[in-house]
Amino acid sequence: MQEPIAILDSGVGGLTVVKEVMRQLPREKIIYFGDTARAPYGPRPAEEVHRFTSEIVHYLIQYRPKMLVIACNTATAVALEDIRSCVSIPVVGVIHPGARAANGRTQTGIIGVIGTEGTIRSGAYEQALKQLSSSNEVISLACPRFVPLVEKGNFRSEETYETVRESLESLKQRQLDTLILGCTHYPFLADTISEVMGKGITLISSADETAREISTILYDRNRMASNNELPVHHFFCSGEPGMFKSIAQQWLGEQIDLTPVVWQVPNIV
Ligand code: DGL
Repeated sequence: MQEPIAILDSGVGGLTVVKEVMRQLPREKIIYFGDTARAPYGPRPAEEVHRFTSEIVHYLIQYRPKMLVIACNTATAVALEDIRSCVSIPVVGVIHPGARAANGRTQTGIIGVIGTEGTIRSGAYEQALKQLSSSNEVISLACPRFVPLVEKGNFRSEETYETVRESLESLKQRQLDTLILGCTHYPFLADTISEVMGKGITLISSADETAREISTILYDRNRMASNNELPVHHFFCSGEPGMFKSIAQQWLGEQIDLTPVVWQVPNIV
């Protein structure tokens, strides 16, 4: 049995990373967990996001993955280091790859970051961007209304355009040249975000750079898949499977093999 790469997110957002991994590493088998029953993670307290992330890791580990990808900025910000210390396989997050990509693209050093409340509150992008270059100026903005639109499959509508326009109003007044989509759900809205921000702003999604990091780690450890047949990926989601399946198939452009998961521990809020 081929050892898979395990990828997780609160919902469909991590599929933006999955798509890039499939493109760059077509022989790698992927197992994916979208915690749609408990999305969004953005407004939740850090300890809760940490606990949910650990539960998903625990679930995925039973499939003996060779690597774990936390394809959720909110979870990366609060749980990456801890998860790394708990498992014996490499663990990749999405914040450093996104910051690296933006640092490489900006001309002026004025970089915008949009993300969930949890990610923005953590200051993780600011820290990563300053670490890469102390002269970077970072303008951060939480956009809590974006994820619910994406989870409903509402990518391009009048409502989506108005929500994006209103949310990014304050950012448009600033002089940034690069904008990090600091939530893996946001690439689903990239066309609208780009329309609202205007042509001069480069949008950065961490998916591309994250897939490159995965590739480098596997290559360095001599763990790249060598099978000739294309792998069969497997998807899990904890909420209603219909919407997840429809979004996943539309985004990935192929049929998916999906298993709904019912959490044993009820989510009491
Ligand atoms: N896609 C996730 C992120 O990158 C989580 C969004 C959410 O559930 O609020 O932060």
